[in-house]
Amino acid sequence: MKCTVSRSALGALRAPALTVFVYEKSGPTAQNGQKSVATALRGLSETAAADGFRARAGDLFTLHQRGGKIADRILFAGLGSPKSVKLDDLRVAAAKAARQAEKLQQKHLALALPAVEGESAAAVAQAVTEGVILGTYRFRRYKTSAEERARLATVELVPADPADGRAVRGALSRAQALGEAVCFARDLVNEPAEHTTPTRLAEQAKSFAGRDGYTVTIHDKEDLERLGMGGILGVSRGSDQPPVFIEMRYTPPEKPSKTVALVGKGVTFDSGGLNLKNADGMLTMKDDMSGAANILGIFHALGKLKPTCAVIGLIPSAENMPSGKAYRPGDVLHMYSGSTVEVNNTDAEGRLLLADGLWYGHEQHPDEMIDMATLTGAARQALGDEISAVLGTDQALIDRLLAQTRRSGESLWQLPLEERYWDDFKSGVADMLNTGKAGGGTIKAALFLKRYVGDTPWAHLDIASTAFREKAKGYQAGGATGVMVRTILEYLAPGVSS
Ligand code: BES
Ligand code: ZN
Ligand code: ZN
Repeated sequence: MKCTVSRSALGALRAPALTVFVYEKSGPTAQNGQKSVATALRGLSETAAADGFRARAGDLFTLHQRGGKIADRILFAGLGSPKSVKLDDLRVAAAKAARQAEKLQQKHLALALPAVEGESAAAVAQAVTEGVILGTYRFRRYKTSAEERARLATVELVPADPADGRAVRGALSRAQALGEAVCFARDLVNEPAEHTTPTRLAEQAKSFAGRDGYTVTIHDKEDLERLGMGGILGVSRGSDQPPVFIEMRYTPPEKPSKTVALVGKGVTFDSGGLNLKNADGMLTMKDDMSGAANILGIFHALGKLKPTCAVIGLIPSAENMPSGKAYRPGDVLHMYSGSTVEVNNTDAEGRLLLADGLWYGHEQHPDEMIDMATLTGAARQALGDEISAVLGTDQALIDRLLAQTRRSGESLWQLPLEERYWDDFKSGVADMLNTGKAGGGTIKAALFLKRYVGDTPWAHLDIASTAFREKAKGYQAGGATGVMVRTILEYLAPGVSS
């Protein structure tokens, strides 16, 4: 999809399809300095209102008018009250309009950018573009019908004020970098586990190697054995797919403002191992490498967003399968940190491979470390499927991430990292067990990880309930969501509008 900023005023546009954002009770927001256009749009939106369009956030109304003055089809997208409109309402409204345009087999869609109180033209343009890119994403690789493949080819943003053209162009390329990063991550997750293997993730990482500022090192199985990464090796033992540990680095041209290590869970399929999951539990387990996919998506965009910090991306990756070679309940793993773990549940594999990744991250002495993982089913019990969990050792870092989500629209909620639960992990034969008793599973998993971050300021994002969704909603398609890619990218490389 090609995205451009219109140089012509709304009145001269003559687009086959135009999106106009409308506030509840106060009418269309796009004037573009032209009175006659404003009057025409007001008339049209009154027609829409007469047919039941109320312009609540998320409402959409399509008006056909062959040979119409401004456009043949106007897609009125509701924003609700001008007082309460948030950037995420813009993303959702733009996503709905773009999806409707695709349904109508349109190739071209113009969007008249609204003025939003308290938000810059750049922030508005960025949110609208993100909505279009994320909202029209679908995993189409295995769809054969032409209808499923209908796609918008070009999207044209019409600034509310022609003087904003420059800011809007900057925002558009930023939104494209962010949107592509998310879609890149989504594609990796949606691709069946048969294809997205640890080796495949390593190939993706290697494809970044030639870019400016990037270095990529793949630690293969032999390297893992030499390094003593017993967590990753243990989890991988039951699978025919060899494990890898991926290390990517992005270094800015100037002296880095700080170094951030990112660690992502890369379990390319989680059957549970010998503690086998049931049919329902296993159904979406190709998504268990969402944390890893996020880091690859983030690295995909770093060169474009040019953060001032250095970023280390670490992905311990393996497939968790049952077989005659699989690790068993009762086995003791020798972890990279030097500690030993008695495995009391082979389905709690994520923390085992993350432990090696985190300890390696800690050894690099970053200023802060953030991990992302589809770690516990308990995250859904605690927060449902719209909110990711954050826990960690550095409150300031957690607060910065929480603040970032208020702009990215991705919901995050902090859970307590309560040490009292550590009693659960007492083992009779090794330093610790890998699994605690039932209850508070998200907290207990994070407590386990905490043993492997040393004194590095650390935040852990549990995206188990949010990384994959059954049905499309807002600007998220059914399947992988790529949740937290935008939040982390905006955090690493803040834009002018954030
Ligand atoms: N990958 C799962 C967590 C998960 C569950 C992600 C549902 C997405 C949706 C993880 O490896 C796992 O199986 N965790 C266990 C831990 C338990 C054995 C302590 C769980 O959550 O049941
Ligand atoms: Zn598991
Ligand atoms: Zn898992």
